[in-house]
Amino acid sequence: MSKPRSVRELRLPLDLSPALWEGSFNGRECSLHQLAPYVGKLKTGMVKAIIAAYTVPGDLVADPFCGSGVVPLEALLMGRRAAANDLSAYAFAVTRGKLAAPATLDAALGQARAALDFAAAHGPIGQEVPEWVRAFFHPRTLDETLAVLRACDKLDLPFIRACMLGILHHVRPGFLSYPASHLTPYLRLQKYPPAEYPEMYAYRSVAPRLLAKVERAYRRPPERAWAACDWHLACANSMALPWEDEWVDAIVSSPPYFGALDYARDNRLRLWFLGVPDWRQLDRALTANDRVYLPQMRACLAEMHRILKPGAPCILVLGDVTRNGHTRNTAEIVAELAEESESGGFDLEQIIEDTIPDDRRSRRATRTTIVEKIVVLRRRPTSKSTLRYASTDHALTRRPCQDWESVSSAV
Ligand SMILES: C[S@@+](CC[C@H](N)C(=O)[O-])C[C@H]1O[C@@H](n2cnc3c(N)ncnc32)[C@H](O)[C@@H]1O
Repeated sequence: MSKPRSVRELRLPLDLSPALWEGSFNGRECSLHQLAPYVGKLKTGMVKAIIAAYTVPGDLVADPFCGSGVVPLEALLMGRRAAANDLSAYAFAVTRGKLAAPATLDAALGQARAALDFAAAHGPIGQEVPEWVRAFFHPRTLDETLAVLRACDKLDLPFIRACMLGILHHVRPGFLSYPASHLTPYLRLQKYPPAEYPEMYAYRSVAPRLLAKVERAYRRPPERAWAACDWHLACANSMALPWEDEWVDAIVSSPPYFGALDYARDNRLRLWFLGVPDWRQLDRALTANDRVYLPQMRACLAEMHRILKPGAPCILVLGDVTRNGHTRNTAEIVAELAEESESGGFDLEQIIEDTIPDDRRSRRATRTTIVEKIVVLRRRPTSKSTLRYASTDHALTRRPCQDWESVSSAV
């Protein structure tokens, strides 16, 4: 590959200014956005500005690397349709929880009570729990947690499942674990020694914490006719998306950064509760490490090209990663791959730069992202797509007037 060009050379007049998403959106965004934490989560203000600039109501907006589902949720809130995908079972569960959230707080509380009643009646399934998972919980709290998650599976309650994942670990009293960090699972035994803080290591009942979480999720509820939203969700590798050719009007996504984040490791406790015992296997399957990044991202770009309508925009948010003193300009690398014919043929319209303030950075030590770049690509109107889609693990669809999602394939 030839040397990447400098961003300055490429910069064109901006129609997306970072001023549009300055400041915190925590108290302004729909509170469903805050259902559960996710490393690398996009700021809703930025997503809103991108969707407003590049799509119109009714458009189908796809995110092949949806993570916690910021893009599909915001797309629905803005009157667009959404197609979302992520290979991680945690990302799939959180996104599904958001998109399938009940229309009202009353309906959501009803689902929570149904899960709690089922859990009280049936208990957990007596599965083996590894020591590293036990270390996070009081034994009774662990049993109740497993029982409620089992109820979510049996009664098919994705929103309640996502709420449970959202309160799984933290230092605060409204959470289920012993004192632990929130984003990634680390016990805080040294900061909060059990002898000094015995109350933090006592039994924590699930019911009041789950009901309070549901209430928090509806503090700023969706304003639209929520039940009528049209969305599609898959858990597949983005090198083989389960979607038709030339189906979507726009892609808005934040693909993994070059060697930057350990998405499965960071979510290993939540993944265990979702039935993924070996997070290492998932991390190996995700597109991240230096050896696989370029060929896999090239295949992902070819898939994005295939599903886009000719001439449609593809907006990718990417961070520069500094590791061991060496900075990788992921945005420029991906922009260059996108222009290659193997990726189907995109035109690069612009790259917009946004500096990430310290408090939003996912890592502050050696492996850290300090600049986010928005790469605006467009599928060439005349180019042909090169790949066909293959298989997927799960794919869900909900169209307006349907009561629930239908599982459309499992391979
Ligand atoms: C930067 S994060 C997306 C964050 C998301 N935009 C949000 O706001 O929460 C990148 C995502 O790509 C997913 N991922 C990495 N490689 C993948 C692949 N080959 N296929 C599908 N998903 C992948 C990871 O699981 C991770 O959730």
